[in-house]
Amino acid sequence: MTSSTPRVCVAFDGEAFRGDAEALAAILGLPLATGPDDAPLHLTVSAAGLSLSLTGPDTPGPVRVDFISGRLGYRQARISPRGESLARAVGLRGNERPSVVDATAGLGRDAFVLASLGCRVTLVEREPVIAALLEDGLARAAGQPGLADAVARMHLVQGNARDYLSALDETARPDVVYMDPMYPHRDKSALVKKEMRVFRALAGDDADAPEILAAALRVARRRVVVKRPARAEPLGGRRPGHRIPGKTTRFDVYVKG
Ligand SMILES: C[S@@+](CC[C@H](N)C(=O)[O-])C[C@H]1O[C@@H](n2cnc3c(N)ncnc32)[C@H](O)[C@@H]1O
Repeated sequence: MTSSTPRVCVAFDGEAFRGDAEALAAILGLPLATGPDDAPLHLTVSAAGLSLSLTGPDTPGPVRVDFISGRLGYRQARISPRGESLARAVGLRGNERPSVVDATAGLGRDAFVLASLGCRVTLVEREPVIAALLEDGLARAAGQPGLADAVARMHLVQGNARDYLSALDETARPDVVYMDPMYPHRDKSALVKKEMRVFRALAGDDADAPEILAAALRVARRRVVVKRPARAEPLGGRRPGHRIPGKTTRFDVYVKG
């Protein structure tokens, strides 16, 4: 690989998807793949939607945004405010459904849980390739009975959360800002490991997370919630008002006023 090798190429699985791949490559300003080794990551258009995978030997399988089947699809019917510590962390109670900005949207799983519980969620994702995965997953889920309502409450913004939050005017301030920045040693489950490997190859660690927290604390009307590995220091050394512990991760809650 040379210094001019792109990090991501757009590939397609079957000639029928060449046109979509070319259009996506043009939108994202990425080259079209010419072979399996021309970039460490391939963003592939196929009948199953968009997926991102590491190329080369011993690499994990593709990562995609899937609200329909798999872990989230299975969970959706079982999502209840009582069962979700995330729901407690953002302050869901009774009929109250706070508006949320998810400042580190990633694959949208946490945002989907909150939207399934009735919150309006703005998902901010800095990395255009991950935002493309999210857009694809949302579009596929929008047509599914049972998911359409939750998806309609999810609004995707591609950009840097720090800039997004800083530019919000008074009327657009959310009740809650939620963030789940990348952390070097987290959950050891195989699925998370796979996603973390792919994410890290694309985006690296989220070194600016303390700055997002500072912007979030200025903007949120009610609270800021930060997901952390269970034993990690609080983000940026800022002690939260309270914590909601979990086995591998916890939520640090900063209540305003
Ligand atoms: C650990 S993942 C979040 C996973 C997510 N909570 C989920 O449920 O799928 C962190 C994500 O935040 C994004 N990110 C990091 N810093 C950001 C920033 N300043 N603005 C927007 N997105 C950011 C990264 O690109 C990455 O996709």
